[in-house]
Amino acid sequence: MKTSRITINKDYIDRSLMAQAGEIIRNGGLVAFPTETVYGLGADAENPEASKKIYEAKGRPSDNPLIVHICDTSQVYEIAKEVPSVAERLFGAFWPGPMTVILKKNDRIPYETTGGLDTVAIRMPSHPVARALIKESGRMIAAPSANASGRPSPTRADHVWEDLEGRIDMLIDGGDVDLGLESTIIDLSEGEPMILRPGFITRQMLSGIIGEVHLDPALEADYHIEESGEDSSEEIGGLHPKAPGMKYRHYAPRGSLEIVEGQPEDVIDYINKKCQEATDDSVRSAVLCINTHYSYYINADEVIPMGEYGDEAATAARLFDVLRRMDEDCIDRIYSESFTSEGVGEAVMNRLLKAAGHKVIFAG
Ligand code: TXA
Ligand code: MG
Repeated sequence: MKTSRITINKDYIDRSLMAQAGEIIRNGGLVAFPTETVYGLGADAENPEASKKIYEAKGRPSDNPLIVHICDTSQVYEIAKEVPSVAERLFGAFWPGPMTVILKKNDRIPYETTGGLDTVAIRMPSHPVARALIKESGRMIAAPSANASGRPSPTRADHVWEDLEGRIDMLIDGGDVDLGLESTIIDLSEGEPMILRPGFITRQMLSGIIGEVHLDPALEADYHIEESGEDSSEEIGGLHPKAPGMKYRHYAPRGSLEIVEGQPEDVIDYINKKCQEATDDSVRSAVLCINTHYSYYINADEVIPMGEYGDEAATAARLFDVLRRMDEDCIDRIYSESFTSEGVGEAVMNRLLKAAGHKVIFAG
């Protein structure tokens, strides 16, 4: 299949180009498009054949459900069986934006889109191009991240092109995304609201609107089995994550990736030693660190400043691009400092731990 690539400036949206993209969606085709979080791979959410095409193009396991993207809150009532008042309060506070809610579904969204589940994930994005595509197509758009399954989510149009060129009908290049991590997912389909995937809308922000919110215990386990260094690709600490997609190995670069924790001096010593070993073994090494530590890493082939101390949003915006870059640059051993796990840092560490297969070393 030939993939057409168009460029749309989000500040001056060309409606005739958007109309072409909308027509592809209406005809059951696939269009990759920018959102404020990551690029999505869109198809008509109510068309089972179109949803199947998404799974094929990505090589995605068919039990891993898609998120339905809408452009108006009223659309929630068309596809959800029940809309609890906590959900309405969250829409008011965080939509449009990087929050996905899970609700019980009615018959309108087919099981092909929800991976066989009786619940549906719904998000109203804020990115003008994403909103224009939903509007121009006249459809609700099912869209996972527009990467090949297992690879880091795309934060630039070129990432989508690398993974999906020839497998989809169209790519809308709308420039680099703003946030760089996928949306926060909150499950409201059962009694207790629960975060299934941390993101920019933090636990604290959600709690501020609807009271105490818990993180899926299987993800909490992420933080507790660190030192064992076990590969937890299937099952995390004996618990199964509630979002099917969170159980798969994801984001992992081809080289090994270790997160190193401890006092800064100890971390720097340890990583420098490891990078020297890499040189001795004639393999390439890279270090991911906070900006101010850049000059201490003297033995690595690449040193990647990930943002100022405490600026987790900057680290988030860079992370997936950096992970892809590690493969392009043929890096064999990657060492990352640990970033704080407060606020947005919770999402950053969740993705970094996944990419590292939970290999965390304590230096000291
Ligand atoms: O920011 C985002 O959410 C991006 C952009 C494109 O909107 N989309 C995205 O989609 O990250 P995807 O498919 O890569 O991740 C969706 C996650 C998966 O882990 C999936 O298992 C989970 O949401 N999910 C979807 N529907 C669900 C449901 N009904 N119950 C539980 N988890 C669900
Ligand atoms: Mg994804």
